[in-house]
Amino acid sequence: MKIGVPIEIKNNENRVGMTPSGVFELTKRDHEVFVQKNAGFNSGFLDEDYIETGAKILDTIEEIYAIAEMIVKVKEPIEPEYKLIQPNQVVFTYFHFASSEALTNAMIESKSICIAYETVEDADGTLPLLIPMSEVAGRMSIQQGAKYLEKPIKGRGILLGGVPGVPPAKVLILGAGIVGYQAAKMAAGLGAHVVIMDINMKALRYVSDSMPNNVISEFSSEYNIRKHIKDADLIVGGVLIKGAKAPKLITRDMLKEMQPGTVMVDVAVDQGGCFETTKPTTHQDPTYIIDEVVHYTVANMPGAVPYTSTMALTNVTLPYVVKLANEGWEKACENNAPLEKGLNIVKGEIVYKEIAEAFDMEMA
Ligand SMILES: NC(=O)c1ccc[n+]([C@@H]2O[C@H](COP(=O)([O-])OP(=O)(O)OC[C@H]3O[C@@H](n4cnc5c(N)ncnc54)[C@H](O)[C@@H]3O)[C@@H](O)[C@H]2O)c1
Repeated sequence: MKIGVPIEIKNNENRVGMTPSGVFELTKRDHEVFVQKNAGFNSGFLDEDYIETGAKILDTIEEIYAIAEMIVKVKEPIEPEYKLIQPNQVVFTYFHFASSEALTNAMIESKSICIAYETVEDADGTLPLLIPMSEVAGRMSIQQGAKYLEKPIKGRGILLGGVPGVPPAKVLILGAGIVGYQAAKMAAGLGAHVVIMDINMKALRYVSDSMPNNVISEFSSEYNIRKHIKDADLIVGGVLIKGAKAPKLITRDMLKEMQPGTVMVDVAVDQGGCFETTKPTTHQDPTYIIDEVVHYTVANMPGAVPYTSTMALTNVTLPYVVKLANEGWEKACENNAPLEKGLNIVKGEIVYKEIAEAFDMEMA
């Protein structure tokens, strides 16, 4: 199969869909891999590294899309890419369709085969291609939150861990899945007082059994959220309802209850956000302030740490890329239930229920 790896053109997205080691796994199986010039540069991979493992380097994104039977990338296609996607071309990437009707319509029109990383699902309900990026974003949410709590950038001016004789900051984390758990781990490590909430008792039990004493688990309810936002310094949103828009757990009126300079990091922004006041931002201009509350809502947080993220992502996508290349998308999906769940839009038809529901559209 001919596989194309384009440069990511989304603002400040520095990851790449395949490492030279991934290319090696494909070329040794007689597949052809076309990598756009400098595609891996920001993740630490040179064109020569790709050439050494058998890739061919092409100058432009147009050439990549024109030659490839399958495109392997990182972020959802953005407007300039819509017209490059060919009928019957497999596009294997993150899509997050439920948060963009424009993207959904464009991919329906393209008649391509859209396999979304974020809905590939193992038998136990876990999302293997979302996990590593959630691990990165969860850990980063505390790093970013700590930074924006500093006074010069309009935060509360509080050090997450406090110092001897001065209490630490309070961190409220919504969702105890991958993002929430990793955020709690980092915040606890820095010495903050952490409250983490979920509606899934299994997740709360795991937190309770495995986290240090400065992490408290609590059931997620509007009442409990309203209680904790009053003195929280940093709030992290990491909830997910698979394939659907995130529930708005923090509403606009709640901001008035918070302390001025509170920082809210909405990691769930890619699914529409779990704060009512969330609107997506970029690494170039990551924050905005409403009612004296600092919002950090970058939709591609792992893009800022491409060295870590590219390796973490491609470690888990590569086995599926190899399957798709070896067997073709139809057989590969037929033979592999987790991959089949990744099918979102096939040749103009929505095949994933939550996406059809999000926009009140027909399903195939
Ligand atoms: N912004 C970014 O760069 C970035 C990066 C990675 C992941 N994400 C997003 O972060 C979100 C979380 O991902 P994840 O991997 O942790 O998902 P996950 O499925 O592991 O965890 C989500 C948790 O939310 C819980 N939840 C659902 N409804 C809730 C409610 N009302 N109150 C409290 N908890 C509730 C679920 O029970 C689950 O434990 C997703 O939207 C994901 O797409 C964003």
